[in-house]
Amino acid sequence: MRVQNQIICSTDLAGKVYKNPNYLQTRQRINYLVNHFLSQGILYSRLHDLPTQFENPRQRHWQPIDWKAISDEQIVGVPKDLFISFLVNATEIETPIRNYAIESRDYLQAAHPQLARFMGGTFSEDGKMLEIGVWEKEERQHAPVFQKIYHKLTLEKLQPKPNTVQGYQKSDDLQQDIYSHVLSRMATEWSATSSYLWLMAHSTGALQHAIAQPLQDEINHLAKFWGIGIWAFGDSYIARLQGMTQLLIDLLKHHKNERSQEVNIFGFSNALYAVELMFTFSRVMTRLNRWHKSLDAGYLENLFGEKPMLLT
Ligand SMILES: [Fe+2]
Ligand SMILES: [Fe+2]
Repeated sequence: MRVQNQIICSTDLAGKVYKNPNYLQTRQRINYLVNHFLSQGILYSRLHDLPTQFENPRQRHWQPIDWKAISDEQIVGVPKDLFISFLVNATEIETPIRNYAIESRDYLQAAHPQLARFMGGTFSEDGKMLEIGVWEKEERQHAPVFQKIYHKLTLEKLQPKPNTVQGYQKSDDLQQDIYSHVLSRMATEWSATSSYLWLMAHSTGALQHAIAQPLQDEINHLAKFWGIGIWAFGDSYIARLQGMTQLLIDLLKHHKNERSQEVNIFGFSNALYAVELMFTFSRVMTRLNRWHKSLDAGYLENLFGEKPMLLT
Protein backbone atom coordinates (compact mmCIF):
# COMPACT_ATOMS: atom_id res chain seq x y z
CA MET A 1 0.00 0.00 0.00
CA ARG A 2 1.26 3.50 -0.87
CA VAL A 3 0.58 6.40 1.46
CA GLN A 4 -0.15 9.63 -0.42
CA ASN A 5 -1.73 12.75 1.07
CA GLN A 6 -3.25 10.68 3.82
CA ILE A 7 -4.96 8.40 1.29
CA ILE A 8 -3.72 4.88 1.30
CA CYS A 9 -4.22 3.80 -2.28
CA SER A 10 -6.66 1.08 -1.56
CA THR A 11 -10.32 0.58 -0.90
CA ASP A 12 -12.15 -1.62 1.56
CA LEU A 13 -15.78 -2.35 2.46
CA ALA A 14 -16.19 1.34 3.43
CA GLY A 15 -14.67 2.79 0.25
CA LYS A 16 -11.44 4.79 0.30
CA VAL A 17 -9.06 4.06 3.14
CA TYR A 18 -7.41 7.07 4.82
CA LYS A 19 -4.49 6.81 7.16
CA ASN A 20 -5.69 9.59 9.48
CA PRO A 21 -9.21 10.40 8.33
CA ASN A 22 -10.77 13.73 9.22
CA TYR A 23 -14.47 14.01 10.08
CA LEU A 24 -15.60 14.46 6.48
CA GLN A 25 -13.57 11.50 5.30
CA THR A 26 -15.07 9.30 8.03
CA ARG A 27 -18.54 10.52 7.06
CA GLN A 28 -17.75 9.54 3.50
CA ARG A 29 -16.90 6.04 4.73
CA ILE A 30 -20.10 5.82 6.81
CA ASN A 31 -22.18 6.91 3.79
CA TYR A 32 -20.45 4.35 1.61
CA LEU A 33 -21.25 1.60 4.11
CA VAL A 34 -24.89 2.65 4.41
CA ASN A 35 -25.27 2.77 0.61
CA HIS A 36 -23.68 -0.61 0.23
CA PHE A 37 -25.19 -2.58 3.13
CA LEU A 38 -28.62 -0.94 3.39
CA SER A 39 -29.56 -0.63 -0.27
CA GLN A 40 -33.25 -0.85 -1.20
CA GLY A 41 -32.55 -4.22 -2.83
CA ILE A 42 -31.02 -5.65 0.34
CA LEU A 43 -33.80 -4.31 2.60
CA TYR A 44 -36.48 -5.76 0.31
CA SER A 45 -34.79 -9.12 0.02
CA ARG A 46 -34.35 -9.40 3.82
CA LEU A 47 -38.00 -8.58 4.40
CA HIS A 48 -39.14 -10.87 1.62
CA ASP A 49 -37.23 -13.69 3.28
CA LEU A 50 -39.36 -13.56 6.45
CA PRO A 51 -42.38 -15.63 5.21
CA THR A 52 -39.83 -18.14 3.87
CA GLN A 53 -38.29 -18.31 7.35
CA PHE A 54 -41.72 -19.02 8.82
CA GLU A 55 -42.05 -22.04 6.52
CA ASN A 56 -38.48 -23.18 6.48
CA PRO A 57 -36.34 -21.60 9.24
CA ARG A 58 -32.75 -21.27 8.21
CA GLN A 59 -29.88 -19.31 9.64
CA ARG A 60 -28.20 -16.67 7.47
CA HIS A 61 -24.93 -17.80 5.94
CA TRP A 62 -21.70 -16.11 7.11
CA GLN A 63 -18.53 -15.64 5.13
CA PRO A 64 -15.53 -17.23 6.85
CA ILE A 65 -13.51 -14.92 9.11
CA ASP A 66 -9.73 -14.84 8.66
CA TRP A 67 -8.83 -14.73 12.37
CA LYS A 68 -5.08 -15.00 11.82
CA ALA A 69 -5.09 -11.85 9.69
CA ILE A 70 -6.76 -9.61 12.29
CA SER A 71 -4.43 -7.07 13.89
CA ASP A 72 -4.62 -3.74 15.67
CA GLU A 73 -3.03 -2.04 12.67
CA GLN A 74 -6.42 -2.43 11.02
CA ILE A 75 -8.01 0.11 13.37
CA VAL A 76 -8.49 3.30 11.34
CA GLY A 77 -8.61 6.86 12.64
CA VAL A 78 -9.52 6.19 16.26
CA PRO A 79 -7.31 5.41 19.29
CA LYS A 80 -7.02 1.70 19.99
CA ASP A 81 -8.32 1.94 23.57
CA LEU A 82 -11.43 3.76 22.39
CA PHE A 83 -12.10 1.24 19.63
CA ILE A 84 -11.75 -1.55 22.19
CA SER A 85 -14.03 0.17 24.72
CA PHE A 86 -16.65 0.40 22.04
CA LEU A 87 -16.17 -3.26 21.18
CA VAL A 88 -16.74 -4.19 24.84
CA ASN A 89 -19.93 -2.19 24.81
CA ALA A 90 -21.10 -3.96 21.65
CA THR A 91 -20.45 -7.34 23.25
CA GLU A 92 -22.39 -6.54 26.40
CA ILE A 93 -25.44 -5.33 24.50
CA GLU A 94 -25.54 -8.75 22.82
CA THR A 95 -25.99 -10.80 26.01
CA PRO A 96 -27.88 -12.75 27.38
CA ILE A 97 -29.48 -13.76 24.09
CA ARG A 98 -31.43 -16.79 25.36
CA ASN A 99 -33.31 -14.58 27.82
CA TYR A 100 -34.04 -12.03 25.12
CA ALA A 101 -35.31 -14.79 22.82
CA ILE A 102 -37.63 -16.22 25.49
CA GLU A 103 -38.88 -12.75 26.32
CA SER A 104 -39.79 -12.12 22.65
CA ARG A 105 -41.40 -15.49 22.32
CA ASP A 106 -43.59 -14.85 25.37
CA TYR A 107 -44.73 -11.50 24.03
CA LEU A 108 -45.52 -12.77 20.54
CA GLN A 109 -46.82 -16.28 21.09
CA ALA A 110 -50.52 -15.45 21.30
CA ALA A 111 -50.67 -12.89 18.49
CA HIS A 112 -48.20 -14.29 15.97
CA PRO A 113 -46.89 -17.81 16.70
CA GLN A 114 -44.74 -17.86 13.56
CA LEU A 115 -42.83 -14.72 14.52
CA ALA A 116 -42.60 -16.04 18.10
CA ARG A 117 -41.01 -19.21 16.73
CA PHE A 118 -38.64 -17.25 14.48
CA MET A 119 -37.34 -15.33 17.49
CA GLY A 120 -37.66 -17.69 20.43
CA GLY A 121 -38.01 -21.21 19.01
CA THR A 122 -40.50 -23.82 20.17
CA PHE A 123 -41.12 -25.42 23.53
CA SER A 124 -42.87 -28.59 24.68
CA GLU A 125 -45.83 -28.29 27.01
CA ASP A 126 -43.64 -28.96 30.03
CA GLY A 127 -41.40 -26.04 29.05
CA LYS A 128 -38.52 -27.93 27.42
CA MET A 129 -36.93 -26.23 24.42
CA LEU A 130 -37.54 -28.24 21.25
CA GLU A 131 -36.04 -25.89 18.69
CA ILE A 132 -33.95 -22.73 18.88
CA GLY A 133 -35.32 -19.71 17.01
CA VAL A 134 -33.43 -18.45 13.94
CA TRP A 135 -33.11 -14.98 15.47
CA GLU A 136 -31.46 -16.45 18.55
CA LYS A 137 -29.19 -18.68 16.42
CA GLU A 138 -27.99 -15.63 14.53
CA GLU A 139 -27.72 -13.38 17.57
CA ARG A 140 -25.84 -15.84 19.73
CA GLN A 141 -22.90 -15.77 17.32
CA HIS A 142 -22.34 -12.06 17.81
CA ALA A 143 -20.94 -11.76 21.33
CA PRO A 144 -18.38 -14.56 20.71
CA VAL A 145 -17.15 -12.80 17.55
CA PHE A 146 -16.58 -9.58 19.47
CA GLN A 147 -14.94 -11.49 22.33
CA LYS A 148 -12.59 -13.14 19.86
CA ILE A 149 -11.77 -9.82 18.20
CA TYR A 150 -11.11 -8.38 21.67
CA HIS A 151 -8.73 -11.24 22.36
CA LYS A 152 -6.92 -10.76 19.03
CA LEU A 153 -6.44 -7.05 19.71
CA THR A 154 -5.56 -7.15 23.41
CA LEU A 155 -4.42 -10.77 24.04
CA GLU A 156 -6.76 -10.68 27.04
CA LYS A 157 -9.97 -12.55 27.68
CA LEU A 158 -13.17 -10.57 27.83
CA GLN A 159 -15.92 -11.71 30.16
CA PRO A 160 -18.95 -9.64 29.19
CA LYS A 161 -21.28 -8.49 31.91
CA PRO A 162 -24.73 -9.51 30.68
CA ASN A 163 -27.65 -7.11 30.73
CA THR A 164 -30.65 -7.77 32.92
CA VAL A 165 -33.68 -8.99 30.97
CA GLN A 166 -37.02 -8.14 32.51
CA GLY A 167 -39.05 -10.86 30.78
CA TYR A 168 -42.67 -10.55 29.72
CA GLN A 169 -44.28 -7.68 31.65
CA LYS A 170 -47.97 -8.32 31.23
CA SER A 171 -50.48 -5.47 31.29
CA ASP A 172 -54.19 -5.72 30.53
CA ASP A 173 -53.57 -4.50 26.98
CA LEU A 174 -51.87 -7.24 24.97
CA GLN A 175 -51.74 -5.23 21.77
CA GLN A 176 -49.95 -2.39 23.53
CA ASP A 177 -47.54 -4.88 25.13
CA ILE A 178 -46.63 -6.34 21.74
CA TYR A 179 -46.39 -2.91 20.17
CA SER A 180 -43.90 -1.71 22.77
CA HIS A 181 -41.94 -4.93 22.67
CA VAL A 182 -41.48 -4.99 18.88
CA LEU A 183 -40.58 -1.31 18.99
CA SER A 184 -37.88 -1.93 21.59
CA ARG A 185 -36.46 -4.86 19.60
CA MET A 186 -36.32 -2.68 16.53
CA ALA A 187 -34.55 0.09 18.45
CA THR A 188 -31.96 -2.49 19.57
CA GLU A 189 -31.40 -3.70 15.99
CA TRP A 190 -31.06 -0.12 14.80
CA SER A 191 -28.59 0.60 17.57
CA ALA A 192 -26.54 -2.53 16.81
CA THR A 193 -26.57 -1.79 13.06
CA SER A 194 -25.39 1.78 13.60
CA SER A 195 -22.73 0.82 16.15
CA TYR A 196 -21.24 -1.89 13.92
CA LEU A 197 -21.26 0.45 10.93
CA TRP A 198 -19.25 2.94 12.99
CA LEU A 199 -16.79 0.18 13.94
CA MET A 200 -16.49 -0.74 10.24
CA ALA A 201 -15.88 2.88 9.26
CA HIS A 202 -12.97 2.80 11.72
CA SER A 203 -11.46 -0.49 10.62
CA THR A 204 -10.15 -2.18 7.51
CA GLY A 205 -8.97 -5.57 6.24
CA ALA A 206 -9.80 -8.77 8.11
CA LEU A 207 -10.97 -6.83 11.19
CA GLN A 208 -13.56 -4.92 9.19
CA HIS A 209 -14.61 -8.06 7.35
CA ALA A 210 -15.21 -9.85 10.67
CA ILE A 211 -17.48 -7.05 11.93
CA ALA A 212 -19.40 -7.15 8.62
CA GLN A 213 -20.75 -10.61 9.53
CA PRO A 214 -22.79 -9.64 12.63
CA LEU A 215 -23.63 -6.32 10.95
CA GLN A 216 -25.45 -8.10 8.11
CA ASP A 217 -27.45 -10.14 10.63
CA GLU A 218 -28.56 -6.94 12.36
CA ILE A 219 -29.64 -5.37 9.06
CA ASN A 220 -31.50 -8.58 8.27
CA HIS A 221 -33.40 -8.36 11.57
CA LEU A 222 -34.00 -4.63 11.24
CA ALA A 223 -35.59 -4.97 7.77
CA LYS A 224 -37.75 -7.89 8.92
CA PHE A 225 -39.01 -6.23 12.12
CA TRP A 226 -39.58 -2.92 10.35
CA GLY A 227 -41.71 -4.53 7.63
CA ILE A 228 -43.76 -6.78 9.88
CA GLY A 229 -44.14 -3.90 12.35
CA ILE A 230 -45.78 -1.70 9.70
CA TRP A 231 -47.95 -4.60 8.57
CA ALA A 232 -49.14 -5.12 12.16
CA PHE A 233 -49.41 -1.55 13.41
CA GLY A 234 -49.42 0.76 10.39
CA ASP A 235 -47.54 3.97 9.72
CA SER A 236 -48.07 5.54 13.14
CA TYR A 237 -45.83 2.84 14.51
CA ILE A 238 -42.87 4.09 12.53
CA ALA A 239 -43.53 7.68 13.57
CA ARG A 240 -42.92 6.45 17.12
CA LEU A 241 -39.65 4.89 16.09
CA GLN A 242 -38.55 8.00 14.27
CA GLY A 243 -39.26 9.93 17.46
CA MET A 244 -37.12 7.46 19.33
CA THR A 245 -33.86 8.90 18.03
CA GLN A 246 -33.65 11.23 21.00
CA LEU A 247 -34.84 8.55 23.42
CA LEU A 248 -32.20 6.17 22.20
CA ILE A 249 -29.46 8.76 22.51
CA ASP A 250 -30.59 9.40 26.09
CA LEU A 251 -30.56 5.68 26.85
CA LEU A 252 -27.09 5.25 25.44
CA LYS A 253 -25.86 8.19 27.47
CA HIS A 254 -26.74 6.27 30.60
CA HIS A 255 -25.19 2.98 29.62
CA LYS A 256 -22.30 2.49 32.03
CA ASN A 257 -19.49 0.02 31.84
CA GLU A 258 -17.33 -1.01 34.77
CA ARG A 259 -14.14 -1.41 32.83
CA SER A 260 -13.82 2.15 31.61
CA GLN A 261 -15.56 5.41 32.26
CA GLU A 262 -15.13 6.34 28.64
CA VAL A 263 -17.05 3.40 27.19
CA ASN A 264 -20.36 5.15 27.54
CA ILE A 265 -20.66 5.62 23.79
CA PHE A 266 -22.08 9.09 23.61
CA GLY A 267 -19.81 10.10 26.44
CA PHE A 268 -16.66 9.85 24.36
CA SER A 269 -14.03 12.10 25.82
CA ASN A 270 -13.57 13.36 22.27
CA ALA A 271 -16.86 14.85 21.06
CA LEU A 272 -15.90 14.09 17.46
CA TYR A 273 -16.68 10.39 17.86
CA ALA A 274 -20.02 11.10 19.48
CA VAL A 275 -20.92 13.30 16.51
CA GLU A 276 -19.84 10.56 14.10
CA LEU A 277 -22.02 8.05 15.92
CA MET A 278 -25.05 10.29 15.90
CA PHE A 279 -24.45 10.84 12.20
CA THR A 280 -24.42 7.05 11.68
CA PHE A 281 -27.64 6.53 13.65
CA SER A 282 -29.41 9.22 11.67
CA ARG A 283 -28.08 8.00 8.29
CA VAL A 284 -29.46 4.53 9.00
CA MET A 285 -32.83 6.00 10.00
CA THR A 286 -32.94 8.21 6.89
CA ARG A 287 -32.22 5.20 4.74
CA LEU A 288 -35.00 3.17 6.40
CA ASN A 289 -37.42 6.07 5.96
CA ARG A 290 -36.69 6.26 2.27
CA TRP A 291 -37.37 2.54 1.95
CA HIS A 292 -40.47 2.93 4.11
CA LYS A 293 -42.07 5.26 1.55
CA SER A 294 -42.07 2.47 -1.01
CA LEU A 295 -43.67 -0.15 1.27
CA ASP A 296 -47.41 -0.13 0.76
CA ALA A 297 -50.11 -1.93 2.68
CA GLY A 298 -51.04 -4.16 -0.28
CA TYR A 299 -47.49 -5.38 -0.68
CA LEU A 300 -47.21 -6.19 3.03
CA GLU A 301 -50.56 -7.97 3.10
CA ASN A 302 -49.46 -10.01 0.15
CA LEU A 303 -46.37 -10.99 2.09
CA PHE A 304 -47.85 -11.67 5.54
CA GLY A 305 -51.56 -12.25 4.88
CA GLU A 306 -54.37 -10.75 6.91
CA LYS A 307 -53.65 -9.26 10.28
CA PRO A 308 -54.39 -11.61 13.20
CA MET A 309 -57.44 -10.73 15.31
CA LEU A 310 -55.31 -9.81 18.30
CA LEU A 311 -53.59 -7.05 16.35
CA THR A 312 -56.67 -5.38 14.87
FE1 LIG B 1 -26.71 -8.95 17.63
FE1 LIG C 1 -30.07 -8.41 15.78
